[in-house]
Amino acid sequence: MSAPGCRIAVLISGTGSNLQALIDACAAGTIPGRIEQVLSNRDKAGGLARAQRAGIPTGIIRHTDYADREAYDRALARQLEQAAPDLVVLAGFMRILSDTFVDAFHGRLINIHPSLLPAHRGLHTHERALAAGDRQHGCSVHYVIPALDAGPVIAQGVLGIQPADTPATLAERVQRLEHRLYPLVVRWLAEGRVQMQGDRVCLDGEPLAQPPGIAPLEA
Ligand code: GRF
Repeated sequence: MSAPGCRIAVLISGTGSNLQALIDACAAGTIPGRIEQVLSNRDKAGGLARAQRAGIPTGIIRHTDYADREAYDRALARQLEQAAPDLVVLAGFMRILSDTFVDAFHGRLINIHPSLLPAHRGLHTHERALAAGDRQHGCSVHYVIPALDAGPVIAQGVLGIQPADTPATLAERVQRLEHRLYPLVVRWLAEGRVQMQGDRVCLDGEPLAQPPGIAPLEA
């Protein structure tokens, strides 16, 4: 990956609050890179307006326009490659990606997931953390591999679950952590400090035994 000047593409489906955190970090110069394009599978994704306000080219590739997952992912990959991204960032992109797509972007495709992986892969993570009686919860940034939410974890944001927490309060607290964690990890990647080697992550050339964590600002 080229550093500085990492070429970043972001895929979204919704509000784009994580996209906003990345836009702000690029504008502030804390990420040595540029978001070259933002693609959405949904016309109404709020994140599209955020990108447009920041002057970033956007595109909509509707999954409903394609016969199957493979055809959609081929179109998505074609569009992405036009920006020649060093890094493809999934930020609330609500699609399962085909193995072919994931393999094509191997080592340069990352996602943020609202749980402390490997706990609670998939959906409804806040409800499931509460139902399981977990004492800690948070978010993970990981490389994407064909198995869902199962790629090597780069870093996590951790918070303690409070007795009064509900799925809604956890969602809000975890998102605040995400907005700090994702720009930090994208910064490391843009600086060339992080690599995926097999099923492990190396930070500054050293394999990580455990993903580094960031804690919430509140006690
Ligand atoms: C985030 O909470 C992330 O964990 C999940 O999708 C959500 C996207 O939110 N993958 P936003 O669109 O970035 O606000």
